[in-house]
Amino acid sequence: MATKSGEGFSSSFGAIMAAAGSAVGLGNIWRFPYICGKYGGGAFLLVYICFVFFIGMILMMSEFIIGRRTGEDPMKAYPKLRPDRKGWRFVGLAGLFTCFLILAIYLVISGWTLNYFWESLSGTLASIADNDFASHFNAFASSTWRPIIFIAAFLLFTTLVIIGGVEKGIERVSKLLMPILLLLLLVLCVRSLSLHGASAGVAYLFQPDFSKLTGEGILAALGQALFSLSVGMGVMIVYGSYLPVDDNILKTSIWITVCDFAIAVLSGIAIFPAVFACGQDPTGGPGLVYQVLPMVFNSLGTVGRIFSIVFFLLLSLAALTSAISLLEALTQWLSSEKIGRTKSAIVMSLVVILFAVVASLSFGNGILSGVKFGGLQFFDLLDKLTGTVLPPVCALMTILFFGWFMKKEDIIDELSNHGTLKIGYFKAFYYFLARFVAPAALIVVLVSGLIN
Ligand code: TRP
Repeated sequence: MATKSGEGFSSSFGAIMAAAGSAVGLGNIWRFPYICGKYGGGAFLLVYICFVFFIGMILMMSEFIIGRRTGEDPMKAYPKLRPDRKGWRFVGLAGLFTCFLILAIYLVISGWTLNYFWESLSGTLASIADNDFASHFNAFASSTWRPIIFIAAFLLFTTLVIIGGVEKGIERVSKLLMPILLLLLLVLCVRSLSLHGASAGVAYLFQPDFSKLTGEGILAALGQALFSLSVGMGVMIVYGSYLPVDDNILKTSIWITVCDFAIAVLSGIAIFPAVFACGQDPTGGPGLVYQVLPMVFNSLGTVGRIFSIVFFLLLSLAALTSAISLLEALTQWLSSEKIGRTKSAIVMSLVVILFAVVASLSFGNGILSGVKFGGLQFFDLLDKLTGTVLPPVCALMTILFFGWFMKKEDIIDELSNHGTLKIGYFKAFYYFLARFVAPAALIVVLVSGLIN
């Protein structure tokens, strides 16, 4: 099918799989369950659903519209829509810069995941005593070479897919991996729910506890909604430029959002019932997946070992399709400077791995942990910038441009595929959300984040 930029996805299904592949990642499986549990389970979930559908999805549609309308990378897309206001290109640049930093830290965590997959396969994890998982994780993540080797291996897979191209690389890999991922996850859910004592885990995840839903929890919900849907940083502008011209943007966005949300909830269902059934601590936070789950798997005997392999494979694959989208955004931008796709992908990978290695070496008590930036180790600095500060800023600028600077006729024309789709009532609703609700929510979050 035709796209404006030449390169592109061959079908709407392929586009949905690729964009859902970008959205579904470590954010869903590693991060969502522990923050949902931490901030009040069902109470958090309610707020999260609103943010996902009324802000995240609106941003996704807006980015798709900007991308498909222009067929350009984020740096060129803004000035193309408003040639009289070239300054907006800096929003594209800020988004790409944020993608770069996200990719650097994402590679570190993906490297850990790949290592855990390897250690499940080789039997190392099965031989560790329950009390030693925390020290095993810290010793590994703070060591010098081992994490770097896994970061490099993970990045190599990512780069190869990008070099393969949009349709033959990204789309093909996503169409294959996303269904596998869903299947693996469902298997884990069934097993987890059938364990004796699983219901406590389900209650932990879903029973609303409004006393735990603090202001901080609401901020976390918005940050998580943006991160999980991969919106605000221009990645969906890039994927939008690859959308077929007759793709129904509204439908595609709903599918991606529903998939992303469902997989986050399913991950919680795969993890918490098992954690409770095995009497482990559900408040393990970021270490939950690497320190608590291996204990759970070990207590399940041989079957547990298989589940351990399945789980870390699932997490690695989910991380892979997300890393692909981040590297693609950077590659598309660099290759539009007439360097060529393969060269751009390689150059970008080499630059980003430098940052990832420094982040890895600064983690825990690694050899660079003494080097501080404003009191933070490099890893923690990246985590803070990409987790709380930059994404809402970029998202706010994007939606302000969309709602207040882009021509309304252009938006309606693109959303309705030049008038061929009926978008009647939705038009006014969407425009209202994009113009007022989403920016206002982002401003509130940012301001309260700054005050804290
Ligand atoms: N959404 C992915 C996750 O949940 C992470 C991700 C991929 C991302 N591409 C992005 C986040 C672009 C922000 C912007 O793990």
